[in-house]
Amino acid sequence: MEILIRDSLEAGAQVAASVVSKIIKSEDKPVLGLATGGTPLRMYHELIRMKQSGELSFQNCTTFNLDEYAGLSREDERSYYFYMMSNLFDLVDIDKNNVHLPDGNAKDLREACRKYEQQIKAAGGIDLQVLGIGANGHIGFNEPTGSFASRTWVKILSEQTMQDNSMYFDKLEEVPRHVVTMGIATIMESRHCLLLANGAKKADAIRKMIEGPISASCPASILQMHPRVTVVLDEEAAYLLTFKDHYKWVEKNKLEWQRY
Ligand code: GLP
Repeated sequence: MEILIRDSLEAGAQVAASVVSKIIKSEDKPVLGLATGGTPLRMYHELIRMKQSGELSFQNCTTFNLDEYAGLSREDERSYYFYMMSNLFDLVDIDKNNVHLPDGNAKDLREACRKYEQQIKAAGGIDLQVLGIGANGHIGFNEPTGSFASRTWVKILSEQTMQDNSMYFDKLEEVPRHVVTMGIATIMESRHCLLLANGAKKADAIRKMIEGPISASCPASILQMHPRVTVVLDEEAAYLLTFKDHYKWVEKNKLEWQRY
């Protein structure tokens, strides 16, 4: 894993945006896996700025989002579809025909999940998968103890995640219990993962992900087995890392071509 620790949220967002823009510029038909939540918002702002300044175009991009709530309509402001449209897709030059999110409203959710996996495959797989992390170590909506072999499927949220995500809803009871998420195996097949985490609330999950044993108790820990992961942290999310100074040392001493 490549661990990049930054002392401001802006600096972290800039590194993250530069990893994304590098992929967009280097591939003819870049395929991006995207995430929602509070964490990637600054990175999206930076990507929109790059588009507006003419540095970057999303015209050739195809995207697949990680997850979606089941039962919320696309027009619902709390759906991840609405989030992606208002925070990125409506503000850049992407062809909306190339935008994909799991369909949490499909009549046949299981069939929709199978179709989503096929669409990712047909696009040639994901070049770069952006990830956040839950305070309990989840990636996408893959909660602790779920299978590392999982594929896009309908999952049930843990009570902790419902609690954590309730800030986007009026009441806890309104948080959907069911979600559709790429599975761990789907995420592991992407060619490069970019995981972002900020704040002390994520520090324990980050420690387990990077330095803990690989265990389904912390789903993100499977990323230790992925050949190419870039992790961008602020100081607070990094504060429990035993080898924090080593990660900074490694970054300082990288050869030019080894840098993100
Ligand atoms: C949600 C999403 C995840 C996201 C995580 C962290 O449950 N399903 O994909 O990475 O929580 O969210 P935040 O960035 O708001 O802390």
